[in-house]
Amino acid sequence: MTNEETLDPRDWAALRALGHRALDDAMDYMESLRERPAWEHAPARVKAHFDGPPPAEPQPIEDIYREYVEYVQPYQLGNSHPRFWGWVLGSGTPMGVIAEMLAAATDSVSGIYSYVSNNYVELQVLDWCKEMLGYPLSAGGLLTSGCSASNLIALAVARNAGAEFDVRAEGLTGAPAGRSGASAAAGGAPQRLTIYCSAEAHSSLTKAVELLGMGTRSLRRVPTDDLLRIDVAALAAMVALCVVGVAGTTNTGSIDDLPALADFCEREGLWFHVDGAFGAWAAIAPASRYLVAGMERADSLACDLHKWMNLTYPVGCVLVRDAEAQRRTFSLTPSYLAHGEGERGLTGVDVPWLSDYGFELSRGFHALKAWMALKEHGVHKFARVVQQNIDQARYLAGLVAARPELEQALPVALNIVCFRYVRPGLSDAALDQLNKSIELELQERGIAVPSVSTIGGRKYLHVAVANHRSRREDFDLLVREVVRLGGEIAGA
Ligand SMILES: Cc1ncc(COP(=O)(O)O)c(C=O)c1O
Repeated sequence: MTNEETLDPRDWAALRALGHRALDDAMDYMESLRERPAWEHAPARVKAHFDGPPPAEPQPIEDIYREYVEYVQPYQLGNSHPRFWGWVLGSGTPMGVIAEMLAAATDSVSGIYSYVSNNYVELQVLDWCKEMLGYPLSAGGLLTSGCSASNLIALAVARNAGAEFDVRAEGLTGAPAGRSGASAAAGGAPQRLTIYCSAEAHSSLTKAVELLGMGTRSLRRVPTDDLLRIDVAALAAMVALCVVGVAGTTNTGSIDDLPALADFCEREGLWFHVDGAFGAWAAIAPASRYLVAGMERADSLACDLHKWMNLTYPVGCVLVRDAEAQRRTFSLTPSYLAHGEGERGLTGVDVPWLSDYGFELSRGFHALKAWMALKEHGVHKFARVVQQNIDQARYLAGLVAARPELEQALPVALNIVCFRYVRPGLSDAALDQLNKSIELELQERGIAVPSVSTIGGRKYLHVAVANHRSRREDFDLLVREVVRLGGEIAGA
C-alpha cells in the first residue's frame, strides 16, 4: 500500500456509471431541445451559488453532477435551441459530444510533435476546408479556437509579409523612418502597416491590430454603400498594406464585393484577407456559391467551423495561401522543442509541427469533432443545411414583408434578417425602446432568442439563421409573437 496520490478514481465503476448517466442525459437534453424554453434567465440564487473558496477536500461525484444539472446546464446561452438566432452562433451536433469525450479520454494535445495521429487528422480537416472553400491545397492553415484567433493569425502573417523590415526582431519601431508616410514619430503606425476594412467589419479585427502592436489607428474603416458593403471607390484613395473583405458581416450578412477587392489588391500588390467567419460556408452550397465568389483569391481566409458548420464550440480555421509566410511568422524552436531536418526517431520530419503555424503551442484536439462530423454527415448535407438557412431567412423576410406592423432594415444578403416592429406616431427613440423590449420579452419568456442591433441609427431585431434545428414554423411563431408582444407593449 502506498500513500502516493493520483487523480484517477478510487472507484472506477462509480465514475463509469456517472459517465453513462451523463452521456444519456446529454443525449436526452439534445433530443428534447424543442420542448425546452429557448432561454432561461439565471436567477439570483444561481449567481449566489458561484461564490466561495476553492474546495479543499473531495466532494462526492454524484453531488458535483447534481450541482451541474441544477445550476449550470439550464442557464447557458442556449444556442443549441431551434429558436436561437441571436448574434451569429452555431448550434452544435450530438456527435460533437462524443468527439469531445473521446478527445478528453486521451487528453489530446495538438500542435507539437510529428508522427502523431492528431496532426494527420488536423491536416486532413484543413485540406477538406481548403477543398470546400475553393482554396489551393498548397496553402498553410490551422484550426483555431474561433474566428477572432483566425483573424489575428492572418493579420500577423499579412503584417510580417508586407513589412519591409524584420517585424519579429525589431517590433514596429523597426519601421525605417520617413520611408512610409506617417512615421511612428508622428504618432501613428507606419503607413506601410495600415489595414483597411469596412465600417461594418467585425470588432475582432480591431482587437487583432491592437494585439499586433499596430494600434487601432492602423485599422482604417472605409465607408459602406447602401447595402453596407465596403465602398471600393472610396478604398482606392487610401490603401497601404492589406485590405480585409468581409464575406458576411455580423450585423446584416452583407458581403463585400470580393472580386473587386481581389482585383484591387492584385493591382496594388496588397495582401487580401477575407473574414468569412460564417459567410464563407455559402461556398459549399451550389445555389449560393456565387455570393462569395472571389473569396478563393484571398491571401488569407478566416472562418469558423462552430458557427454555420454547427460544430461544437470551439473550432475555427485560418488558411494562408503562402504556407511559408505563415511558418515564418510563427516558427520558433527552442532546444526543448527541437524538430525538423536532422532530427530522427520520434521527433521525425514527416509532417510539420502545427505549432509553427500559429501563436499557441498546446491546443485541444479541435480537429476530431470536425473530422467525425464531416464523415458522419458528408459535405452535401452540410451544404443543404446552409442552403436551408438561406431559404429560411428569405422565408422570414417574406413573412415580415406581409405584416404592415413590421419593417425590414435591408434586403436579405445571406442568412440574416433585421426587422423591427413599427407603430405610426411613435418616434425612432420610442421604437428603439419598443423593439428592445420585444427582444427581452421573447428571451425572458423563453419563446425565441433574436438579438438587437443598430443599423442606420435604428434598433432592429437581428435574426441570424445558422441553426440546423430551425424549421419554417419557428419563423411563423417568431413573427406572430413579435406582432403580439409589440401590440401588447405599445398598448401598455
Ligand atoms: C464576421 C465575424 N468575424 C469574426 C467573428 C469572431 O468570431 P469568434 O466569435 O469565433 O471569435 C465573428 C463573430 O460573430 C464574426 O461574425
